Amino acid sequence: MTRRFYITTPIYYPNGEPHLGHVYTTVCADVIARYHRLAGGRTWFLTGTDWHGIKMVKSAEEQKTTPQALAEKNDQTFIDFWKELGITNDDYIRTSEPRHVKSVTEIVNRMLASGDIYLGSYEGWYDEGQEEFITETEAKANEFKSVVSGKPLGRYKESTYFFKLTKYVDRVFQAIESDQIRVLPPSRKNEILSKLKGWNQDLSISRASLKWGIVMPNDPEHVLYVWIDALSNYITALGLPGSTDDKDGNEAGEKDGKEADKDLAAFWPADVHLIGKEILWFHAFYWPAMLMSLDLPLPKTLFAHGWWTSEGKKMGKSLGNFIDMDRLRAVNLTYSLDTLRYYLLRAAPFGSDLDWKETELATAYAELGNVVGNLLNRTMNMITKYRDAKVPALGITEDRDAVLIKTLADLPAAVAGAFAGLELQRAVLLPIEAARAVNTYIDQTQPFKLAKDPAQQKQLDTVLNLCAQGCKKVLAALLPILPAKAAAGLAQMNVVLDGQTIADLIGSDLPAGHQLGTAAVLFPRIETK
Ligand code: MSP
Repeated sequence: MTRRFYITTPIYYPNGEPHLGHVYTTVCADVIARYHRLAGGRTWFLTGTDWHGIKMVKSAEEQKTTPQALAEKNDQTFIDFWKELGITNDDYIRTSEPRHVKSVTEIVNRMLASGDIYLGSYEGWYDEGQEEFITETEAKANEFKSVVSGKPLGRYKESTYFFKLTKYVDRVFQAIESDQIRVLPPSRKNEILSKLKGWNQDLSISRASLKWGIVMPNDPEHVLYVWIDALSNYITALGLPGSTDDKDGNEAGEKDGKEADKDLAAFWPADVHLIGKEILWFHAFYWPAMLMSLDLPLPKTLFAHGWWTSEGKKMGKSLGNFIDMDRLRAVNLTYSLDTLRYYLLRAAPFGSDLDWKETELATAYAELGNVVGNLLNRTMNMITKYRDAKVPALGITEDRDAVLIKTLADLPAAVAGAFAGLELQRAVLLPIEAARAVNTYIDQTQPFKLAKDPAQQKQLDTVLNLCAQGCKKVLAALLPILPAKAAAGLAQMNVVLDGQTIADLIGSDLPAGHQLGTAAVLFPRIETK
């Protein structure tokens, strides 16, 4: 059976333009998706936008427009920006699309049929920026302000439909505790488990006072709570099993339920829901409980990454430290897209909070040039000069060669392990460290001296061979992270990618006599003002 891999990002609120936070999640998901495609599995990478809820209504009011117009405008900006950043999502879902609305209606109907929804009344606190109900204790602990935005909480009192969360709390606890749903990083798992312990409230899932949302199928006076609508995207985009709707939003009959089943069966359950830490609770509790109510399989991994600050402070438009599209474009223009990707992934262990520092972009670029660019240059130039651009066979191997051979031999498993554990910073640093090791090896073996001594030609062959193998392996391991630069480097080395998995590419050796192409500088020096 073909291996399948399904990864999602959160669907973003189109109430503004994408910024560093959205870009970070999407780039990380893109790196993971590219890795899995290169690893040979069938991969599906989903992103999109979340149109409904009070936050969109309020943002539209502030911007003197309608939620529809606001969403349409920003949605297009998201789509265009992902293209500009070379994001390789396979699908893009908007919660306004018929394929979504129809399937969500079906989802609510099934939850109603399971007896999991009842009418009641809610009185309590609500964080409108987060679209989140806040318990009395939590509200009090943060002086009735949002933990995320610092804005005052709203007080809601209304008749509402409830979803029986309490019915599922023990099962969700079990699923997370036993790692049936892996919650990463591990500290987040403990956080969720302790919040779940003793949870005794059902979830208000409808609002009668709001008009902007999906209408409750059993009561047209109510619209559905935005998180029930939003979380469903992960399956509505694939096509809900048993529903007559399909993933292209065609009318019933154009593609029957069986085919829709096939789509979902292929990719559901999701392998990874990649999210920011502030929305883990929804994904770790509401979503599994909904899936249990629907009798559908649970996602395998929830990864909650950290939050970016900028130059040591929370990002804010008024603070002048906001990393918006223009700032990100400028980085792309000066240093390349791949440098931006490298910087984002390298900035902290995956899962920790991160801080954007302008000065570190130049450092990241210099590091790529000094380590990867330099290795490629030296390798290409030496083999061209001393061996007519043909990789020589391995000659005599001594201890120092054996050490490097071992380092390179360990690389494929280390890279696979880093991706399996979603240790993205490690996945980035492994090839960089390997490149450093080859550079140090060149410094120590001094091939330019060996070249001058006719008695040392076998040693020179070994050094040149290992440089070529090392350089190729490093570039191959960097393919998901630096797709353009790594591919350009491999093209210079005349390495053909077609049909080879990333494990093949990192694991195999170039044959003796392999003809290299023409050298070119990968990371040109940048003139700074
Ligand atoms: N619409 C909901 C998600 C629904 S998913 C079923 C939402 N949207 S959002 O537009 O607010 O995007 C939140 C996501 O953006 C975070 O989970 C994170 O992925 C990213 N980030 C936004 N700001 C961020 C930082 N400052 N730092 C890192 N990522 C953050 O929540």
